[in-house]
Amino acid sequence: MKMITTTLQQLLLWLNFTSLLIATLSSANSSDGQNLVGLSLVPASRAHPGAVCLDGSSPGYHLQKGQGAGQHSWLVHLEGGGWCSTVQECIYRARTARGSSSFMSPVAFAGHLSNSPLENPGFHNWNRVFIRYCDGASFSGNVNEPLIVSARGHSMRLFFRGQRVWEAVMEELLTRQGMLNATQAILSGDSAGGLAAFHHCNDFKKKLRGDTIVKCLLDGAMFLDMPSISGVSLIKDLYRKVTTLHNVTSLSHTCTSKQDRGECFFPQYNLDSITVPMFFLQSSYDSWQLRNVIAPAIVDPSHAWSLCTTDLSNCSKPQMGVLQEFRQALLRNFRPLLGHPMWGMHIVSCLHHTEELYSYLWNGFTRVNNMTALQAFSKWYFGGGVVQNIDCAYPCNYTCR
Ligand SMILES: *[C@@H]1O[C@H](CO)[C@@H](O)[C@H](O)[C@H]1NC(C)=O
Ligand SMILES: *[C@@H]1O[C@H](CO)[C@@H](O)[C@H](O)[C@H]1NC(C)=O
Ligand SMILES: *[C@@H]1O[C@H](CO)[C@@H](O)[C@H](O)[C@H]1NC(C)=O
Ligand SMILES: *[C@@H]1O[C@H](CO)[C@@H](O)[C@H](O)[C@H]1NC(C)=O
Ligand SMILES: *[C@@H]1O[C@H](CO)[C@@H](O)[C@H](O)[C@H]1NC(C)=O
Ligand SMILES: *[C@@H]1O[C@H](CO)[C@@H](O)[C@H](O)[C@H]1NC(C)=O
Repeated sequence: MKMITTTLQQLLLWLNFTSLLIATLSSANSSDGQNLVGLSLVPASRAHPGAVCLDGSSPGYHLQKGQGAGQHSWLVHLEGGGWCSTVQECIYRARTARGSSSFMSPVAFAGHLSNSPLENPGFHNWNRVFIRYCDGASFSGNVNEPLIVSARGHSMRLFFRGQRVWEAVMEELLTRQGMLNATQAILSGDSAGGLAAFHHCNDFKKKLRGDTIVKCLLDGAMFLDMPSISGVSLIKDLYRKVTTLHNVTSLSHTCTSKQDRGECFFPQYNLDSITVPMFFLQSSYDSWQLRNVIAPAIVDPSHAWSLCTTDLSNCSKPQMGVLQEFRQALLRNFRPLLGHPMWGMHIVSCLHHTEELYSYLWNGFTRVNNMTALQAFSKWYFGGGVVQNIDCAYPCNYTCR
């Protein structure tokens, strides 16, 4: 029951996100100024048998081809949207676009995926790919046999195959869409998709030619192993269930030789296994983590926290103390990376979750050291050198609304 409450909350958040991202069902793809991109399915693959979404349907992606100087440059983005940690949650998800391609629609490419040179300079003419998230375990599950379940009196089969979806879509992009010829490539992802990009970053590099310049970008994906205000780590419990239900076995051995799989799902215990340059776009007051990990309704029955996690100016002093502790814990995890050009970061002090796919955040007003997220990422990606912007603690420089 407890987890179901959190799931509902999470679901509402993702629905919010989805409605912003997925444009109205319109067949004309840029008549209203939106850059709608159609869905491509990845049919059953001989190389990766059983690469399917939760409900057994084919996985899908959206590709807008690169032009001119961007023809051989690739930005591959993994969609986010939480996890399903119980059979019930996965049955539910299998009836949505996050578990079945039967429910997927065209997507409006904005922010880092935008084709507008004004909104997205430097990347607008690249090949841009948005890979749909339909497995429920950050593209990492791998259970051989489908699970036969009964839902609303019907029996259905559930597939936990995120890892195979990753392999199959990569193969499709590499061989059928020409990504093998990439001269430069970025693997990015937001939220649960950012966690997937984290765990697949080394593999992404390995799949490309040796001389391809490869870097990864994680947006709102530094999920922390932190207790909630009740003292229990809800997210660790969630990750243990997800990695067990989905048979997540592709995690770094350096970590799994010391810690359990649930713990090894957290980026913070795997930083030393990453060999590819990586950039973190992150909020110090990540609204998803505050609402779902630190002070979710199940540990806050009187809703004493809901105003605070909606508007920082409404936090009490003790609540602000908890939020500053969260920020400190986040920064502690980044501390070993400071001063190293391999690790880029743009840490804003805003109450939001992700930035990369929203034009107004990606190249908008949340400046740190007078750089937008796009400017910081571009400086790091194209220029090299150390780019590590960390905004001061709230309420200083509060530019977020
Ligand atoms: C726009 O729609 C046309 C016709 O439906 C299609 O051929 C084209 O690929 C679409 N463009 C994008 C970017 O999806
Ligand atoms: C879990 O994954 C491992 C490695 O991919 C595989 O050997 C094993 O058979 C899988 N277990 C199940 C229950 O599918
Ligand atoms: C890579 O580029 C070469 C030459 O431009 C071309 O012949 C080949 O078909 C391309 N390969 C792929 C997978 O697109
Ligand atoms: C924050 O609190 C003020 C008064 O303390 C109230 O007027 C305002 O509506 C609150 N904002 C939100 C978002 O609840
Ligand atoms: C905070 O704002 C001041 C004045 O606008 C600016 O000089 C400073 O760089 C900002 N600090 C950060 C971390 O962005
Ligand atoms: C911040 O950057 C903008 C251009 O990106 C520039 O016009 C402005 O002068 C800069 N402000 C400061 C305080 O450096």
